[in-house]
Amino acid sequence: MKLWSGRFEKETDNLVDALNASIGFDQRLYREDITGSMAHARMLGACGIISPEDTDAILEGLQAILQDVEAGKVQFTTDHEDIHMNVEALLTARIGEAGKRLHTARSRNDQVALDLRMYIRARIPKIVDLLLGLEEVLCGQAKEYQTAVMPGYTHLQRAQPISFAQHLLAYASMFSRDVTRLEDCAARLNECPLGSGALAGTTYPIDRWQTARELGFDAPMSNSLDGVSDRDYVLELLSALSILMMHLSRFSEEIILWCSWEFKFIELDDAYATGSSIMPQKKNPDVAELVRGKTGRVYGDLVSLLTTMKGLPLAYNKDMQEDKEPVFDAIDTVEMCLPVFAAMLKTMTVCTGNMRRAAGKGFINATDCADYLTKKGMPFRDAYAVTGRLVAHCTAQGKTLEELSLEELAAFSRLFGEDFYEAVSLESCMALRVSYGGPAVSETTRQLEAIEAFVSARRGQDHPGKPNTDQ
Ligand code: ARG
Repeated sequence: MKLWSGRFEKETDNLVDALNASIGFDQRLYREDITGSMAHARMLGACGIISPEDTDAILEGLQAILQDVEAGKVQFTTDHEDIHMNVEALLTARIGEAGKRLHTARSRNDQVALDLRMYIRARIPKIVDLLLGLEEVLCGQAKEYQTAVMPGYTHLQRAQPISFAQHLLAYASMFSRDVTRLEDCAARLNECPLGSGALAGTTYPIDRWQTARELGFDAPMSNSLDGVSDRDYVLELLSALSILMMHLSRFSEEIILWCSWEFKFIELDDAYATGSSIMPQKKNPDVAELVRGKTGRVYGDLVSLLTTMKGLPLAYNKDMQEDKEPVFDAIDTVEMCLPVFAAMLKTMTVCTGNMRRAAGKGFINATDCADYLTKKGMPFRDAYAVTGRLVAHCTAQGKTLEELSLEELAAFSRLFGEDFYEAVSLESCMALRVSYGGPAVSETTRQLEAIEAFVSARRGQDHPGKPNTDQ
């Protein structure tokens, strides 16, 4: 018989039970559910709402259930629809009458909101940790390749010379933002919905500050309707994870391009590549392709919950039971992608010669040629036009800018001198880009130090995304 069956004359149809049951997936919330219930019971006892004996019996019973679940001794059942009903039924079966008092001054609506907040709060530090690990790999690789010239692209056309380090550190900057987005999410979600009741609080003299404090929250949520109907924290997490996956996906796209014969900027380690069942020569970048592919899945998780929430009147609606699977899926996906991606980057071989050769073609020093004339006094727009004509001339002659003789150059401008060749050499084009944020070694060194400081500030220190050790 269902815990809520009081007013019903018939059993629910089996099809309804199947549709309604969430225990198949929300059992992942068992730890948060039991921890939350223990805090609730302690508060009920402290406020004199239940007796000290009942409080003790409930706490012992819940503790024993938690141990049994962790030891794999508990079989959850769809007879009790969700994790909250399962735990309550198990408790009452163990301790009798007292178990039936646990749900005083509480609803599953505030209970599930609490559980999911605690679950997300507990999982964020792991994702942050994986991101920091990835940033460490990027820093390690960037250090090796600060002077490795590669073509920087816009429109996937060779544009200006950069270093491979500069390219990798661009991604490290993105992952730093992903970390702070997750930290923001963890900080903002840290208000406790417990005590909101079904939607309108309760007539019992509860102490919401006590439960909030015990469960590691900064404060109780201020409005009980908002307490049970808010899922912003889930959407913030899914948004942060979607953006994170978008970064991984852009990076994957580049890895895939770089592995192709057309680029051959990198070679993946055998352990992070796969073969073809028919083409013996193939070495495929499946890791990067799968990460790129799984990005769609995480976006789907975000869009599915945004869609679920968009038409819901206040306060709780059963639609909101659909919030959990997207969260679990997105977290699992990100946790699967990050470590393998980091390992793939750590073990790749970088073909600096190919990068350098690619940078040698495509007139990626044309801006530097225009800058050379500008520094000699010509207005930039005129220098730009002269350089454009030079590029056309070189294209017709099958030459690069630095292969032109001084006589040829003189036909385009009298300002060209011996120092031109040094000014447009790829190495100096890169080394002279010392503006803040640029690819010169002094600047990539500064970026590296900043990222290393960002990472080490979060390793072993207190920050919003840090695991709550009480849980
Ligand atoms: N399993 C439900 C959920 O995930 C718990 C809340 C149920 N509340 C209710 N009034 N039916 O949302």
